[in-house]
Amino acid sequence: MDLSCTMVIFGGTGDLAHRKLLPAIYNLQYEKLLPENFTVIVVGRREKTDEDYREEIYRSIKAFSRFEVNGEVWNNLRDRIYYWSMDFLQEETYGLFNRFLSEKEYQYDTKGNRIYYMAVAPEYFEGIVDKLHRHCMDEGIKGWHRVVIEKPFGRDLNSAKYLNDKIVQVFQEENTYRIDHYLGKEMLQNIMVLRFANMIFEPLWNNRFIDHIQIFSSETVGVENRGDYYERSGAMRDMVQSHMLQLVSLIAMEPPNDLDTKSIQDEKVKVLKAIKKMAGKDIEENTVRGQYGSRRSERGEISGYRQEARVAPHSNTETFVALKLYIENFRWAGVPFYIRTGKRMPEKSTEILIQFKTMENILYFKDKQLQPNILVIRIQPMEGIFFQFNAKEPGTRQRIIPVEMDFCQNCRVGINSPEAYERLLYDVMRGDRTLFARWDEVEYAWKFVDNILEAWKNHPPIFPNYEAGTWGPGEADKLLQKDHRNWINR
Ligand SMILES: NC(=O)c1ccc[n+]([C@@H]2O[C@H](COP(=O)([O-])OP(=O)(O)OC[C@H]3O[C@@H](n4cnc5c(N)ncnc54)[C@H](OP(=O)(O)O)[C@@H]3O)[C@@H](O)[C@H]2O)c1
Repeated sequence: MDLSCTMVIFGGTGDLAHRKLLPAIYNLQYEKLLPENFTVIVVGRREKTDEDYREEIYRSIKAFSRFEVNGEVWNNLRDRIYYWSMDFLQEETYGLFNRFLSEKEYQYDTKGNRIYYMAVAPEYFEGIVDKLHRHCMDEGIKGWHRVVIEKPFGRDLNSAKYLNDKIVQVFQEENTYRIDHYLGKEMLQNIMVLRFANMIFEPLWNNRFIDHIQIFSSETVGVENRGDYYERSGAMRDMVQSHMLQLVSLIAMEPPNDLDTKSIQDEKVKVLKAIKKMAGKDIEENTVRGQYGSRRSERGEISGYRQEARVAPHSNTETFVALKLYIENFRWAGVPFYIRTGKRMPEKSTEILIQFKTMENILYFKDKQLQPNILVIRIQPMEGIFFQFNAKEPGTRQRIIPVEMDFCQNCRVGINSPEAYERLLYDVMRGDRTLFARWDEVEYAWKFVDNILEAWKNHPPIFPNYEAGTWGPGEADKLLQKDHRNWINR
């Protein structure tokens, strides 16, 4: 497959480009996955030369790349990185920019193939796409033009629909790559393999054998320097609408007919469509929101959310969400899916926990409390699979104890899993959209989230309601306790 292309990164001086995108491109070069005919053009507002940019990005690559920086690999890449300074709000700058792109295309023989990566604040997506359309996509262009859109894709269903219409009018759906970087993570790709390539799991993957599922993603950090973004977003839009519902759809989907993009995405969408709609009292009973407050510890004071930079002093933005949902289909009817995500929690971790039903208390286990089987898919920072089952405790007494099998993928020597962005950038070059969100996935996820956000508006929260460094508000524990269950923090 010919991967020749020019990759244009709008927002090349930003945090995402420095920490993720350019290190990912370096790693692809290291792995010899970049094509010969390839160049990267990064766009920023600040004035700087190519050399200035190359030096800056070299330092970032050294800090963030998963491979050590190798002189030969870097030299091969550095001369193909160019910096272009422009204010992308100014229409008149695009003609000159397009001429520069064409020159580089000619120099590197990239066959007219272009990737436009929008690593900029979401309010600029539409404007840039519109100007690219008018100045950089002449009739009769050679090659393909693809656009990569960072999350968040809209801030509700209406704004997402509006943005989507604008983008697909220019690039069409098949050239639109909506990033949800969780989908690029190794263990997410492993979920389908685990389910559909193992006889011991798939027959049990339903409401006959599974008691409930917990999906959680926690961070120890607060909003860091992204207060202005987070104020407009909150945990529901930032995490649940995208990452958490993607995890739900992968765990709950039916086996696809085929491994092609359409078959997989069709099955994921069916799950999102089947999530039971909540209204009024259901939302009150099945959702919990929280915001972290300050905490004094031996190491000093940890700020509360309202004290963070660029956050309103009386902000009601949620930094934590817990909720229970049901999927209304034959496989999952009656099985609760509990979701929990938050900032400033005790640990950084993303996991999916499947708790199986307990065995009937018969035979010689009659008077003993058997522990349920638990399967945990660890996504980050550890990657692996944990399984808990019951065994006899060695000795003369008939005691049953839970024992564990723990497969840690990234503890194995020699396994250095690719960063999500490496996989995703490579897939954009290859034209494979399987690990990107199709429009109807985004659409149904917004429908679910909008409904809850709308109901929350009528009941202002009392924030802050959890201390930094804890597992969220007490109501989140009660959400499970009233079902006689508990969050399992492994
Ligand atoms: N950072 C992350 O970890 C992360 C994670 C997930 C998603 N995202 C998404 O990725 C996108 C970028 O985030 P970020 O954190 O990298 O943002 P950022 O650090 O604020 O960077 C913004 C970039 O946009 C450029 N820019 C802004 N206005 C411009 C203008 N008028 N003309 C030309 N360039 C302009 C800036 O250039 P100058 O610096 O030269 O002004 C800078 O390169 C956002 O949509 C964000 O939601 C980021």
